[in-house]
This record gives sequence, C-alpha cells and structure tokens, in this order.
Amino acid sequence: MSVKLPIFFDHHSTTPVDARVLEAMLPTLKDEYGNASSRSHVFGWNAKRAVDRARGLAAELINAQPEEIIFTSGATESINLAIKGAARMYAEKGRHIVTCVTEHRAVLDTCRALEREGFEITYLPVEPDGRLSPAVLRSAIKNSTILVVIMHANNEIGAIHPIEEIGKITREKGILFFCDATQSVGRIPFDVNKMQIDLACLSAHKIYGPKGSGALYIRKEKPRVRIEPILVGGGHENGLRSGTLNVTGIVGLGAACELAAELMDEESKRMSALRDRLFIGLRNRLGFIHVNGSMEHRLPNNLNMGFEYVESESLLMELGEEIAVSSGSACSSAALEPSHVLKALGGGEEIAHASLRFGLGRFNTEEEVDYVVERVTKAVKMLRAISPLYEMETKLDTERQSDADRKLGAA
Ligand SMILES: Cc1ncc(COP(=O)(O)O)c(C=O)c1O
Repeated sequence: MSVKLPIFFDHHSTTPVDARVLEAMLPTLKDEYGNASSRSHVFGWNAKRAVDRARGLAAELINAQPEEIIFTSGATESINLAIKGAARMYAEKGRHIVTCVTEHRAVLDTCRALEREGFEITYLPVEPDGRLSPAVLRSAIKNSTILVVIMHANNEIGAIHPIEEIGKITREKGILFFCDATQSVGRIPFDVNKMQIDLACLSAHKIYGPKGSGALYIRKEKPRVRIEPILVGGGHENGLRSGTLNVTGIVGLGAACELAAELMDEESKRMSALRDRLFIGLRNRLGFIHVNGSMEHRLPNNLNMGFEYVESESLLMELGEEIAVSSGSACSSAALEPSHVLKALGGGEEIAHASLRFGLGRFNTEEEVDYVVERVTKAVKMLRAISPLYEMETKLDTERQSDADRKLGAA
C-alpha cells in the first residue's frame, strides 16, 4: 500500500487551501494590493470589484442576496457579532435566548457573556442521537424570547439538526433564528430561505479557503434584521464591521464558495462512500466499538467512534505521527475535559474519553482510508492487550459464552 504520511483526517478542525483558491488569491498579494475602500484610483476599484465578486459567490452558495453578506475574520467573530449584536439591538423586546448544549464553544461562551449582561439563556438538551427535538424547542419559547441559536451540523459528531422545522417554528413565533453553518456550508445544501434563517455564519478555512476569513449572513427583508456592531471605526461593511477589508481572505472565501457550489453534490457522495468504508472496515475488525451520534442525519464526511477499553489520548499518541484525527477530550487548563458534545449524548464520561473523530476531506483517498483502518485496528488491539479492564471483560465474555454453550448442550 503506498500512501503518503501523515494522513489528514481532521477536516472539521480545518482544511487545506485548494490550489484553485490559492491561485485566485495570489494576485491580491502581488499587483492587486489595493484597499477596497479607496475610491479615487484603479487599485481601490479593482480591490472593490474582487470583494463584490466574492460577496456574490458567498451569497449564491447559501441562496442569499449579496447585500446580506458581511465579511468577518471567521465564524467565531460572526457568531459574536450575530448573537451579541441581535441581543443588544432587540433587548427592549425581550431578554431571553434559546440555544443548545452541543453548540460550538464560540456560541456557548458568547451566551455566557450575555448572561453577565442580564440576558437569560436556555440551553436545550439533545436526543441520544445528538439532534434537537423541535418539540423541545417549541416548549422552551417564551414571550420574552428574542433569538434562537441552533447550529446546522455539529463539528464533533456531524449530527444534522432538523433546521427547516426549527426555522418554521421561529418564523411562526416571530423570533429571530441564527444558525451556525460553519460545518455544513459546502458539504450539504444550506439555503437561508428554504430554512427560514435570519442570521448565519460560515468560515473560509472549513471549505478549503484561508484561515482568518469568514462571513455573516443578515436577512434584509421579511424580516429586516438589525444588529448592533461590535467593531466600530471606518464604517466598513455597512457600519456593521469596521476595519480595512481583508481582500486576500475575502477573495479566497469567494473562490472556496464557488468551488464548493460546483463540487458539493459529487463530493458529498464520495465522502459518504469513504466514510462508510472506514466505518465498515473498523467494525469488521474490532469489537466493543460504537458510533456517537445519528448515522442517518449526519455530515457525509464525519465519523465519531467510541473504542471501549481504550483511552483516546493514548490512541492519539500512537497514531499522531501518521494520522491526524482528534479525540473526544479537550485540554482545558491542566485537566483533560471530556467533550461537552459527547457528554450531552448521555453515554457517560468514559465514552467521551474513548472516542475519536474522523473528518474526511476533498483530497482523501480509498487507500488512505484502508491504511487508517489497519493502523487504528492495530493501535486499538495493542492498547487493549495491556488493559486489565479489557482482559477482565473478555474473560467474563468467554465464561458467559461457555456457560450458554453448556446450557445449550444440556438442553
Ligand atoms: C461549528 C463551528 N462553529 C464555529 C467555529 C469557529 O470557526 P472559526 O475558526 O472560523 O472562528 C468552528 C470551528 O471550529 C465550528 O466548527
């Protein structure tokens, strides 16, 4: 088997810049270096034209109007701007926001910050498959609710929430709906009109574009959404995000969106075939494994698996030089915290500490999947061979089996 190591299977964390995206960006780092706000000369006009084109491409990918897109430094900034901006703008209407426990830290920490400003936040639980029940959302809405914040697809377990149903509820109740589409845009269809979304964010580096570049969608009509800016200064981006535009990053975002629109259908089929190959390969070789989150409503490139009797951190140590994946734990200060998403599925902390997230991407191949299957299998077997717990369990299992055989024989 000839694969090039290391293999990158961590595409939820970031993606490589596609060569075609890089090609589109390069002129802005050479001769086309104008400031998009310079109105008096051709350098500025060209930069503005490039930014406008990118705005159109980003809008098209999510079925929005170009005027509804503002550029930011990434999804984290878009999330802060959308949630804080809407909360502060509509605070007189009400001070209650509904979100979900499995949201990205950028959402959860923004909500915590708003709690300190006197807003009330409801954090909804998820079903065991990682999805939010629309009925649970409906019952959480109060007269004072001004905003619902639910992601499209989860960055750890790939679970896809019933966004259209959520959009129907929020529209019916006249409440704004912000959707973090960072992981879904470019991977599965995302349509702000069909889904009745009022605010949404995306990030270039998750779709084969550059890091430090993102966008926020803000609905312009039915309803016209208003938000308070966080960054003030030169009044860029309709006064909503001041600061000289990152033309290179924006052009990269636009090119990444254009490519995503073109490739998405075919790519998502290829991703799910690779993902299933990975899943079946591991399932055929290893016992005591399970999938975290819904298999049916899941991003095509995501697989999150628990390997019982194995510490995922030890697995990463085994694999890290050759295979880039991530675990169900995150280092926070000194402690190894189990993932808040895996914990929310209700399986206990051990499951989180024994789980790996595989995120497939545009340039992965079948050969790489086969290599990963063999390598992970070998590492899991090796770690289980030195696990006293695993030894006990398999011994018990053998005893239970021979007991059952004896009973069958006696019958
Ligand atoms: C669901 C989700 N939201 C937000 C973010 C933050 O994105 P960015 O790195 O562009 O700030 C990420 C990235 O990990 C994500 O996966």
